[in-house]
Amino acid sequence: MPVLSVNTPSAAYDVTIGSGLLRTLSQRIARLQPGKAYRPFVVTSPEIWRHWSKAFLASFPKQGPGAPTVLFHPAGERFKRMAAVESLAQQMALAGADRDALLIAFGGGVIGDITGFLAAIYMRGVRYVQLPSTFLAQVDSSVGGKTGVNLQAGKNLIGSFNQPEAVFIDTDLLRTLPPAELRAGLQESIKAGIIYDARLFSYLEKHAATVLASRFTPQRQRALQHVITASVRVKAEVVSQDEKESGLRMILNFGHTLGHAIEAATHYKQLLHGEAVGWGSIAALHVALERGTITPAQFARMANLILRYGPLSPFRATAAKLVALTYSDKKKRSGRRAYVLPTAIGATATVFDVTDDELQRAAEAMLQLMRTSTAS
Ligand SMILES: NC(=O)c1ccc[n+]([C@@H]2O[C@H](COP(=O)([O-])OP(=O)(O)OC[C@H]3O[C@@H](n4cnc5c(N)ncnc54)[C@H](O)[C@@H]3O)[C@@H](O)[C@H]2O)c1
Ligand SMILES: [Zn+2]
Repeated sequence: MPVLSVNTPSAAYDVTIGSGLLRTLSQRIARLQPGKAYRPFVVTSPEIWRHWSKAFLASFPKQGPGAPTVLFHPAGERFKRMAAVESLAQQMALAGADRDALLIAFGGGVIGDITGFLAAIYMRGVRYVQLPSTFLAQVDSSVGGKTGVNLQAGKNLIGSFNQPEAVFIDTDLLRTLPPAELRAGLQESIKAGIIYDARLFSYLEKHAATVLASRFTPQRQRALQHVITASVRVKAEVVSQDEKESGLRMILNFGHTLGHAIEAATHYKQLLHGEAVGWGSIAALHVALERGTITPAQFARMANLILRYGPLSPFRATAAKLVALTYSDKKKRSGRRAYVLPTAIGATATVFDVTDDELQRAAEAMLQLMRTSTAS
């Protein structure tokens, strides 16, 4: 079973990837700090619990302090708010949780981000592990320690860097995930290939039919595990070199400047995050093509791969509106907008001088491609 390690100034931990991890979870957690007593609190949503509670509970004692207390959080981005953190903390307190509590984030990125933040602030900090259940959470959000919630004023504006003690990626969980969620999450793997890992990119090209197959054959399971492992390796290496995003970690934002603008323009309702990132990536590729940092052939390969893992839901917005919305992106520093552009497949440069005109032309080209690719 692949085990990757993350080593940052604030923490070192393993990411274990494989099938059937859920059924041995309690033993795996016990091994993190042998001999240390802990009380497990699992944060999950009713939907996930309905499918997976039996497997989850299999390795834990049925009663006593080792039996998990289940805290439910409703699914959906709109519930990723301070109110949720307060309500979960209140439930923990009422259940008698003290500094021995260990939180298990069992869900997608929303549950992961909230639970990591709750772990940072409940009684000034308790232990936590990630048990990601969406493809996006498995390849991206569960690793790296960014936690937090949204404000009405914008996404992820409150939070902390808080690394988990371990990440357990059970690929079986993908069996119940809606196919559109899986495809959207794969856009983050394509991103990892484009910015850092040419071999992952080629693998995604070569094995698209297997990865995107409708049934969970052992062959598909192996392909998904390969893609997850390679994607997590990219994230783990980048985060290990730059935990708090002072430089290198910015490359993970490839496709996200316009991606976030697209999400805002469609009120976070119409597109899945990965779909918005797919369109945003195509726009970023147009900027790179116009600047000549990539060749037309490289552009075509990257744009084709993004579309191959679609369909990406279309949306309505003008290029001017999208550019205007990039101004609220929190990734800018002192008014300067960092923009990640590929210089080859698997390599990038971060630049700070992309103009509004360039962005607008790129957004227009992307919208034009959307019209032609979804017209049929
Ligand atoms: N912390 C980070 O570094 C980071 C990185 C990327 C994204 N994020 C955050 O992640 C969030 C998006 O996460 P997401 O895409 O996982 O969405 P999500 O957490 O909203 O989950 C999507 C849906 O899938 C359901 N679901 C989850 N696992 C399932 C399973 N195994 N079977 C059936 N249904 C299942 C959920 O209940 C939910 O309805 C955003 O809030 C984003 O800001 C964080
Ligand atoms: Zn993303």
